[in-house]
Amino acid sequence: MSGPELPPAAPTGGPEPVTVRALVARGSGAELRVERVRLPVPGPGELRVRITAAGVCHSDLSMVNGTLAARFPLVLGHEATGVVAEAGPNTRLAVGTPVALNWAPACRACWWCLRDEPWLCAANTAPTVARGETDDGIRLHLTLGLGALAEAVVVPENAVIAIPAGLPPEQAALLGCAVLTGVGAVGNTARVAPGESVAVIGLGGVGLAVLTAARRAGATTILAVDVAEAKRELALAAGATDFLLSDDRLSREVRGRTEGRGVDHAFECVGRATTIRAAWRLTRRGGAVTVVGMGAKDDMVSLGALDIFHSARTLRSSVYGSSDPDREVPELARAALDGTLDLSPLVSGVVSLDEAPAAFDRLARGEGARWVVSLD
Ligand code: APR
Ligand code: ZN
Repeated sequence: MSGPELPPAAPTGGPEPVTVRALVARGSGAELRVERVRLPVPGPGELRVRITAAGVCHSDLSMVNGTLAARFPLVLGHEATGVVAEAGPNTRLAVGTPVALNWAPACRACWWCLRDEPWLCAANTAPTVARGETDDGIRLHLTLGLGALAEAVVVPENAVIAIPAGLPPEQAALLGCAVLTGVGAVGNTARVAPGESVAVIGLGGVGLAVLTAARRAGATTILAVDVAEAKRELALAAGATDFLLSDDRLSREVRGRTEGRGVDHAFECVGRATTIRAAWRLTRRGGAVTVVGMGAKDDMVSLGALDIFHSARTLRSSVYGSSDPDREVPELARAALDGTLDLSPLVSGVVSLDEAPAAFDRLARGEGARWVVSLD
C-alpha cells in the first residue's frame, strides 16, 4: 500500500550558500591555485561582500612561506575593497554600500577597546579563522579572518567599513592595510612633526605608504632604503627626498644627510631582525624606531645594554598603524578623493585572479610596489 503522495518540497525561500573563485594555498610552501570555494550564508551580524579588488601584501606571503603560523587549506588576501552583496539579520549596512575590509575588527568591549586602543583588541589573536569549505568539502581557513583574494567573502559586519564611492578599486583596495598601516605609523605611532627627518627601510606597499605619509606630515629629509636599486624611482615618486641602498655604507650615508646625528625617526617595513637593527643604528640619540614589519617569532634582535641606555632611543611597534580603522579608513578615502593623499604611486599594476600566483612571485622577488588583483 502506498501512502499519500508527498507534495514537492516547499522552497525555503532562504538564501543559498554561494560558490566563488578564490586563491587557495593547500599547505605551507604549496603552489597557489585558484579554486572554487563555498561561502556560508551570512548569519546574524554577518555580511557577504562582493570583492572588486584586493592587494597582494607581504603578510599573505608570510602565511604561506612559514613566517607566520597558518592553517590550511587557506584562502589568501586581507587587503580589499568591494560592495555589500547580502546582509544577514541584525546588520546595518545596506546592500550596494561600497566598503573596505578591516583585518583587525574591534569588539569595542575588551580592556584595550575601552581604553581606545582598538588595534590591540583582545578578539584578534589568530592569524587564520575557519569558515566556509573547499569544493571537495574540506573546512577552509581565511587569512586574518578575511580570505579576501576571492570573488566574495562572508565576514562579521565589524570587519566591513563603509567608504565613499568614486575611488579606483585598485586604490581603495589598499586603504585597509598598506595605507592605514603606513599613514598610521607616521601620524599615530611615531607622530612625525614638520621639519623632522625620517628613514624608511623596505619599500614595498607598506614602506611606500610610510614615505607618502611622512611627506604629508611635513618631514623634510625623507630617506628611502631598500636592497633593490629598482625601488629608487618608486620611492622618489612616493615622496622620498633620497634613495639609499641598504649596504654597509648606509649608516655613513644617513649621517651625511643629517648633520652627523642620524634621523629623528626610522621605520622598519621589512619584518626582520637585521633591518630592525639597521633602523636602530640610523636613528639619532633620543630618536625613535618604529617597527611596522611583521617578522618571525624566532628572529631575535640583539641590542647592547649600554647602547640602549646611552642612545636614549625609543623602540616600539606600530600594529595596524595604531589606528581606529572605522574612523580613519573613511578619512583616508576622502583624502584620496580630494587629492590630498595620492595613492597612485603605490599601485604597480592590476592583474586577474588567475595571474595572482605570478604576482606573489613578483612580491617575493621584491619587484614593484603593490600588485592588485581585480575581481570585477
Ligand atoms: N634591507 C632593506 N630592504 C629590504 C631588505 C633589507 N635587508 N630585505 C628586503 N627588503 C625590501 C624588499 O626589497 C621590498 O622592497 O623590503 C621590501 C618589502 O616589501 P614587500 O615584500 O612588498 O612587503 P610589504 O607588503 O610592503 O610589507 C612589509 O610589513 O605588514 C608587514 O608583513 C608585512 O613584514 C611585512 C612588511
Ligand atoms: Zn597587509
